[in-house]
Amino acid sequence: MNMAGEADPEDVELEAHLAEQEVFEPPASFVEQANVTDEDIYEEFEENWPECWEGAADLLSWDEGYDEVLDDSNPPFYEWFTDGKLNASYNCVDRHLEERGDEVALEWVGEPVEEENRSITYEELHEEVNEFAAALRDLGVGEDDVVTMYMPMIPELPVAMLACARIGAPHSVVFAGFSAEALATRLNAADSDYLVTCDGYYRRGDPLDHLGKTNEGLADADHDVDTVVVDRLGPNGDDFGHELGDDQYDYDDLVADHAGAEVEPVERDAEDMLFLMYTSGTTGQPKGVKHTTGGYLAWTAWTSQAVLDIKPEDTYFCAADIGWITGHSYIVYGPLALGTTSMMYEGTPDYPTRERLWQIIEEYEADQLYTAPTAIRSFMKWGEEYPANHDLSSLRLLGTVGEPINPRAWKWYYKHIGNEECPIVDTWWQTETGGHMVTTLPAVNDMKPGSAGPALPGLDVEIVDTNAEQVEPGRAGYLTVQKPWPGMLRTLYQNDERFIEEYWAEYSDTDSDDPEDWVYFPEDGAKIDDEDYITVLGRVDDVINVSGHRLGTMEIESAIVGVEGVAEAAVVGGEHDLKGEAVYAYVILEEGYDGDEEMRGRIVEGVEDAIGPIARPESVVFTPELPKTRSGKIMRRLLEDIANEAELGDTSTLQNPDIVGDIRDKVHSGD
Ligand code: WT7
Repeated sequence: MNMAGEADPEDVELEAHLAEQEVFEPPASFVEQANVTDEDIYEEFEENWPECWEGAADLLSWDEGYDEVLDDSNPPFYEWFTDGKLNASYNCVDRHLEERGDEVALEWVGEPVEEENRSITYEELHEEVNEFAAALRDLGVGEDDVVTMYMPMIPELPVAMLACARIGAPHSVVFAGFSAEALATRLNAADSDYLVTCDGYYRRGDPLDHLGKTNEGLADADHDVDTVVVDRLGPNGDDFGHELGDDQYDYDDLVADHAGAEVEPVERDAEDMLFLMYTSGTTGQPKGVKHTTGGYLAWTAWTSQAVLDIKPEDTYFCAADIGWITGHSYIVYGPLALGTTSMMYEGTPDYPTRERLWQIIEEYEADQLYTAPTAIRSFMKWGEEYPANHDLSSLRLLGTVGEPINPRAWKWYYKHIGNEECPIVDTWWQTETGGHMVTTLPAVNDMKPGSAGPALPGLDVEIVDTNAEQVEPGRAGYLTVQKPWPGMLRTLYQNDERFIEEYWAEYSDTDSDDPEDWVYFPEDGAKIDDEDYITVLGRVDDVINVSGHRLGTMEIESAIVGVEGVAEAAVVGGEHDLKGEAVYAYVILEEGYDGDEEMRGRIVEGVEDAIGPIARPESVVFTPELPKTRSGKIMRRLLEDIANEAELGDTSTLQNPDIVGDIRDKVHSGD
């Protein structure tokens, strides 16, 4: 990574964002009705910190009030809303029943295989969450037992999450597109004895065998796992020929057995774990990010209201997958805490046609659309005629998340989807931050395409250099967060040491117990302008951002090295028109193996098996050597430059300078 002195974020600059910056004012029609309109909020929060977060906590219903907003006596192990008691399932379901019981909580749009879309009211959600919570209890799930979920975008996923929250069992959702091996790693790391999964699901009309993959993962688990299987495919899944094993239970049977059951929501301490989410880091071992009940829920509810402008009467559409943090925070917890109608779409935006998303927005009259730059770039490539065929005038706000958005894509989104009437919030945040951190408040701040905007009120974000000094406006530096916030991760699951090492050590005095000496480092490069707008430049660690998803290069490298015949591998991110970044693999083979199509195929398969199709290398380059420094470190920056066809920098410290030219020739000849 750059901190080791390999490269400056100046060099990792993705695009000259600021150069073409223009300013867009929030549309007046939006401002008139927005949740947050007072620009004094920044000053008020600063003066009243940390009590400013009482307002976020007030969005929730507490069984018992908290004593202190923030306990910072033991940094970086901050505690928020201490001794407060609440239940997330109660907050996202029960408390809406009286006024909004008949309103739709989840609007589920399936793949158009059958006419089976479901509008689930808060009343119905309450019923199913209770029944499944009762079923989980009967299976033996107790408070603080981690329940893993390996499910695609089907309604039973949020139901299962909320059922867990109801009984105080933290969930750990594994993205359904991840491999069996990734599932096993996460089951083992969390020592999770329970799994909720499904038989399969549809992709572009075809049924996928998910239970087969699940069973492979279970075979690699180092302990027994009771498994609940949702029947998504019905008779269309018969071809896979699965029979449930002894410790596998049918979801519908369990729920039917507990018909009408009611489970009292368990009183959870504000600091009790709500869920775990594994995310990629610089080492091969994924990090189990721990989020808590009070701070996380307050943070997602508050940002859903202030940034996404969600109101109970809205139909809000976030096109992310619940298997990632975006879906946790902004399909499930934030929107449901506010009692709105949250949409879930099972399929892909181009099936059966490239109009699918626009059809859905028109049909359901969605008020917001929250998606990723990678999707926007695809829409842009397909052409403006697809959205133009639909009435998108219900939209009031647009959002993007996951990676920097280039001004061209921003402007296309603004014009062709928002009809220049919707503000865009470009939200910078991470799995670890729980929710939004850097973004405009849509009715308060002007928008600058390419720049996410200022830090949210109450947050102290600084762009610093390697000496922790703030950099001049316009200069590249490292993004840091100087004060804690309620939605922050509390630790890495059962690994406080790695928590400090990964996020704090770089810029903190780790011997100090003064919170002033502790600085959170998210490992992103950024710059700031003279109006405090932050332009995020991208990761500065060995993590690649493919289609808005984080992948550790080490994880991919170890998958490749696991392929028979491979001696060494280096993986870097190269620029990609649609994905933002794509995986480039440079591979040295063992004596006697050929770098042919078969080998390439095995490498791709090895990566898909270990992680999932999302990590599939865009390019596999066979090379006799890798460029290394005299100290033997692989020069990733050089490999990145080659992948990007950029001018090569100074290679004088190269131990084997010729190799660079050889590799470059191979990449560009497509060999
Ligand atoms: C990393 C976090 C946040 C949910 C989805 C990804 C990058 C995220 C932006 C943005 C520029 C962004 C950062 C961050 N990122 N949003 N609006 N502009 N970069 O969550 O998998 O935890 O990844 O995504 O590099 O560190 P994640």
